[in-house]
Amino acid sequence: MISADLVVAGCRELVTCAGPLPKRGKELREIGLVENGWVASSKGVVVFAGKEDDFQAQVESGPDAVTVDARGKVVMPGFVDAHTHLPFAGDRAREFSLRIQGWTYQQLAERGMGIQTTVKATRAASLDDLVGLSLERLDRMLLTGTTTVEAKSGYGLNLEDEVKQLEALRDLTPLHPVDIVPTFMGAHEVPPEYRDEREDYVRLLIASIIPEIGRRGLAEFFDVFCEPGVFSIEETGRLVEAAKAAGFKIKIHADEFKSQGAAELAAEVGAVSAEHLIAVSDKGIARLGASDTAAVLLPGVSFFLMMDDRAPARSLIDAGAAVALASDFNPGSSHLSSMPFVLQLGVFTLGLTVEEAINACTGNAAYAIGRHATVGSLEPGKKMDLLVCDVRDHVSLAYEAGRNPVRTVIKNGKVVVEDGRRVGPR
Ligand code: NIG
Ligand code: FE
Repeated sequence: MISADLVVAGCRELVTCAGPLPKRGKELREIGLVENGWVASSKGVVVFAGKEDDFQAQVESGPDAVTVDARGKVVMPGFVDAHTHLPFAGDRAREFSLRIQGWTYQQLAERGMGIQTTVKATRAASLDDLVGLSLERLDRMLLTGTTTVEAKSGYGLNLEDEVKQLEALRDLTPLHPVDIVPTFMGAHEVPPEYRDEREDYVRLLIASIIPEIGRRGLAEFFDVFCEPGVFSIEETGRLVEAAKAAGFKIKIHADEFKSQGAAELAAEVGAVSAEHLIAVSDKGIARLGASDTAAVLLPGVSFFLMMDDRAPARSLIDAGAAVALASDFNPGSSHLSSMPFVLQLGVFTLGLTVEEAINACTGNAAYAIGRHATVGSLEPGKKMDLLVCDVRDHVSLAYEAGRNPVRTVIKNGKVVVEDGRRVGPR
């Protein structure tokens, strides 16, 4: 018999998302659905996920085991948010008001607002400020079911303040149950003091900041905003080369507003992911489809910036790309972090099926941050990161639009949200 210390019993629908990752094409519709499903874990690791009869025949739970009653509920893997800009200070509510009155995101940026506003506030903040702000955000994310989050620096834009953002992520790790995957994004923008000497900033990144952050081991990924007017294809290529030499895996903010072939470059350099892709070209779609580079779509941006343009999700899926969804939580272009809402945006604004959106927010999202061996599905050997959702069936995760259906969250085999409230130590 398999022994368990935690059992989630009698799920009306158990959505395991089981199967090899990433899921491509038609596989993306397979969510590993088990009616009246049971899940069991031991020491934070899943030991069983399947039918009641098999559970009764194979699993025994000790007298101290915790049982979570999931009758009438949908149970699924914890959400993986594969793209956020978590550790920033300040807000951009005033600029949001200007946008509502007709200014565009790019017009704000050209007048020294946008990312630069957040750079000023983040430089002025202390390490403790960033830890405190991020803790509150992580609590909110956990309440909407995020159990693993990727988090980028990129509002420091000098060694000291980039390190401060990344140290905030490091210091958060023992303080909060959500797992954090850190990304160094010193190439988020050219800082104001280098506005007229942009080549000097690229050189500084390559010669000193990238290698130094690599030496300090503060981040796993390097990310660059490859966009006309920010970093060119040529600059991105040089930055990526330096980042690889310093030991980073690569992510690229690619073709967000205008295409300059960033998706093609991401595939060519073996990036783990190309993200945004609202303006990706047909060639870029084909290249991503034939590559191991995940296509991370961020429907919160088109929504939050009130854009008509959307990432071509269906073409990417048809081309065979490993499509994932993420929030892009940040103060300017996507000030939202609810993964149920991102899932709903995936369905309502990108035309995904509910099943595709579920896989894109779990297993494929885990693939996009290199965590697919440990999270993203409920299968023996993976982390017991699980959500109990108060909906009749998985389709209602999207059908009940605007709702947070997450009632219970289990992280590493511990109940951390119960009845929609945080429980246990932070
Ligand atoms: O992913 N594209 C660049 N970076 C963010 C926006 C950051 C900001 O506006 O502060 C993004 O959209
Ligand atoms: Fe982003």
